[in-house]
Amino acid sequence: MANLLPAGKVVADIGTDHAYLPVYLIKNSIVPRVIAVELNPGPLEAAKNTVAKYGLQGKVELRRGDGLKPIMPGEAAAAVIAGMGGATINSILAESLEVAKSLKKIILQPMSDAHLVRSYLQSHGFRLVDEELVLEDNRYYEVLVVQPGDSSEFDDIMLEIGPILFSKRHPLLAGYLEEKICHYKQIIDSLDRSCKVGAQEKKQYFEEKVYFLEKVISCLLDVPR
Ligand SMILES: C[S@@+](CC[C@H](N)C(=O)[O-])C[C@H]1O[C@@H](n2cnc3c(N)ncnc32)[C@H](O)[C@@H]1O
Repeated sequence: MANLLPAGKVVADIGTDHAYLPVYLIKNSIVPRVIAVELNPGPLEAAKNTVAKYGLQGKVELRRGDGLKPIMPGEAAAAVIAGMGGATINSILAESLEVAKSLKKIILQPMSDAHLVRSYLQSHGFRLVDEELVLEDNRYYEVLVVQPGDSSEFDDIMLEIGPILFSKRHPLLAGYLEEKICHYKQIIDSLDRSCKVGAQEKKQYFEEKVYFLEKVISCLLDVPR
C-alpha cells in the first residue's frame, strides 16, 4: 500500500490500529506527515505507543473518530482504508463523501466483499485506477487504488474478479480465482444436500459463478477448459 501512495503528500490512515503503516511511511521518508484515525480506544492506545516508541509524535497525528469524519477536505491528499470488511469501507465513504471526493487518491484494502466495494465505487463517482493482489501467509489480499471521477460500468463477474487485475493479467489472479472456485464448490455441495426452499436456485447461482470463473482462468492461462 505504501508503494501505491503519492510520495511527498499528507496521508490519512483510517483505522490505523497499531499505526504501523504511518510509522513505515515516515521512517522511509515516503510522506512528510500522516493523520492516523482510529475509532476504538484499545487500538488508539496501541497507536500512541508505537508512535512514541519511534519518537514520531510531530509527524504522525492521532485522531480518535469514525472513518473520514475527523478529516477536513484539503487536509490530506490521500487516504488509506485497510483491513476492514467491504461493507464498512463503503459506509465510511458514504458518510463522508465530500472528504472522499476531495482526495487525489484513496487506497482501499477490503478483507471481504471487494465486489461490493467496486460496485459502490462505480455508482458513486469513483474510478478504479489500479488494483493489486498480494499473497501473504497463504491469504490473498486485494488492494484497490481509487480516484474521484467517472467510472466504466463493470458487470457482476468483473466486479468480482477485479477489472484491472484481469486486464493486467495479474500473476496471482488465476490462483486467487481457483481458491474462490474451491470455496463455491463447497457451497454447491452443501446446497446439494439441503432441502431448504431456494437451495436449488442458490446452487444454480454458484454453479454459474464457477462456470464463468473457470472461463476467466482459462483465458488467463490461455488454455481451454
Ligand atoms: C483489522 S484493523 C486494520 C489495521 C490496519 N489498517 C491494517 O490494515 O493492518 C481495523 C482497524 O480499524 C478500526 N476501525 C473499524 N472501523 C472504523 C471506523 N469506522 N473508523 C475508524 N477506525 C475504524 C478498528 O478499530 C481496527 O483498529
